[in-house]
Amino acid sequence: MTDLTHDVIELEQDHLLQTYKRAPFVLTHGEGVTLYDSDGNAYLDFVAGIAVNIFGYGDAQLSQAIQKAATGLIHTSNLYHTAPHAELATLLCEKSFADRVFFSNSGAEANEGAVKIARKKAYDKGLTDKIEVVCFTHAFHGRTMGTLALTPKEKYQKPFKPLMPGAVVAEYNDIESAKAAINEKTAAVIIEPVQGEGGIHAATPEFLRALRELCDQYDAVLIFDEIQCGMGRTGTLWAHEASGVTPDIMTLAKPLAGGLPVGAILMTEEVASHMHPGDHGSTFAGGPLVTSVAKTVLERVSQPEFLAHVTEVGDYLAERLSEINSPLISEVRGRGLMVGLELTVDVGPLVTEGYKNGLLLVNAGENVLRFVPPLVMEKEHIDTLVDKLTLMLGEMKNA
Ligand SMILES: Cc1ncc(COP(=O)(O)O)c(C=O)c1O
Repeated sequence: MTDLTHDVIELEQDHLLQTYKRAPFVLTHGEGVTLYDSDGNAYLDFVAGIAVNIFGYGDAQLSQAIQKAATGLIHTSNLYHTAPHAELATLLCEKSFADRVFFSNSGAEANEGAVKIARKKAYDKGLTDKIEVVCFTHAFHGRTMGTLALTPKEKYQKPFKPLMPGAVVAEYNDIESAKAAINEKTAAVIIEPVQGEGGIHAATPEFLRALRELCDQYDAVLIFDEIQCGMGRTGTLWAHEASGVTPDIMTLAKPLAGGLPVGAILMTEEVASHMHPGDHGSTFAGGPLVTSVAKTVLERVSQPEFLAHVTEVGDYLAERLSEINSPLISEVRGRGLMVGLELTVDVGPLVTEGYKNGLLLVNAGENVLRFVPPLVMEKEHIDTLVDKLTLMLGEMKNA
């Protein structure tokens, strides 16, 4: 370990709030789908900053877009009109079911806003006890007091109670459980079409269709959280396209501005009509720099060739992982470049071994390794992963 590495880690440990278990190295730069640390080690990246860095590192088009945007206005507030946020909102509407967009700075904020919009719709109709928000087992919607209430994990929630009231948990992919949870008190139903943090579980089309019908029956707002699974990750621009079901609201964040912080709430006119000046706001959200970059990102991701690449390489990833012969593997699942490898054991040691073998891996819960690499990854990188993983799993079995 060089002095620089040692010093940075020590400074971090001495001065930052210790809420993250960071890996024991200091990243300095990246190229393509590889990151490098201050000791000169290279890591093939299957994490992408947790499903954010879809173009990998050192991408010329992205850095040009950022440089160009940085010569213009950085921030103006939402007191004034600027072109980039209007153009990005227009493009998002053109490429989705939505009629209107509200920008945020993160995923949690986008979901928080989505819940507020759903509650406002019920309030406008004079339905003051229509405040419940139905979420699902293993969901992850954020860490704010509202979104944490919709992230039903005891470890995350318990120390921070009381959270937002009105959260109701139903079983993911269980229509009967959803029927029991959704009623006239339901203001919104929020679901990830493919769950990320919860272990890479895809909602069945029948389940999403049932939710659509239940929301229509009880005049509840159907929210698809595509913060992790959207923007090309599953091989279609939006993950819900595969089901043929459209929501009333969809939330986005993570890759939308190629690594710059931005979130978005996309919605129908019917939902939007209940929000008026003063009902919601954010100082930074939708600033000219991030929205200008996000427009370039969205244009590129929505190209059919880009999406076809995700499907091809994603299928290859799932296929090659399925070929690994190890008694520790119980399932390979996922769609596009959002793939989970479930093991019969805790995957923590494998993540640590990955660092020693030049791989960045991340878990999704205790037993699932989650692969959410840059979307520009190629098959040769998958081959390297599978070779290394096969050896690592072999050693783990023998340990
Ligand atoms: C599906 C989903 N929703 C919401 C969030 C929260 O996003 P953020 O961390 O930007 O607040 C995440 C983050 O992992 C996520 O995966």
